[in-house]
Amino acid sequence: MDAIEALVTRKSSAKLTTPAPGKEDLKIMMQAAVRAPDHCRLRPWRFIVVEGDAREKLGGIFEEALKARDPDATEAMLQKERGKPLRAPMVIVVIARIEEHPKVPKVEQILSAGAAAQNIMLAAHALGYAGIWRTGKTCFDPKVNAALGASETDQIVGFLYLGTAERMPILPDESVDEYVEIWDG
Ligand SMILES: Cc1cc2nc3c(=O)[nH]c(=O)nc-3n(C[C@H](O)[C@H](O)[C@H](O)COP(=O)(O)O)c2cc1C
Repeated sequence: MDAIEALVTRKSSAKLTTPAPGKEDLKIMMQAAVRAPDHCRLRPWRFIVVEGDAREKLGGIFEEALKARDPDATEAMLQKERGKPLRAPMVIVVIARIEEHPKVPKVEQILSAGAAAQNIMLAAHALGYAGIWRTGKTCFDPKVNAALGASETDQIVGFLYLGTAERMPILPDESVDEYVEIWDG
């Protein structure tokens, strides 16, 4: 798929099935990720690829974190949380690795990791896969950071659910004019 076509046609799908991106395609997605803009070349990102049974372990982390956040969580809520990573054959956790830097504030490092995440989503789309970028309280939970080997100051910017679309949503045509201003002083 041509780059402009990929950019203007990407959309999310929450209904995902196999196949997930294979080894070669995953490598391309990662190469796209690390082409994200990055002030002072801090490489402020980490990508954790979760597939197969490891998704159940990730679900276990989600469940334990929910239990700690909400001791009143019902069994149904815990089960739902545990099952979340099973909604796609591949989940990529994108983590912003934050460092104190005299020129690059935290927000810029998070933006770089977010740009890397979007590059992954776009590359996946261009390769014929589909996905959805999700966050939620899990992204802001120190217990989840610890379980994934991230420091307390690191920031999970997203769980990228990836696979093949069972079906794609139909989106209305996007009008860009309402967001665009030509400023002439
Ligand atoms: C940082 C970020 C976090 C998001 N978190 C969620 C989420 O937790 N759950 C969800 O359904 N959509 C979430 N979304 C939105 C979807 O990824 C998606 O963009 C949205 O459903 C609109 O679909 P589209 O991408 O086809 O326009 C998030 C998007 C971003 C950029």
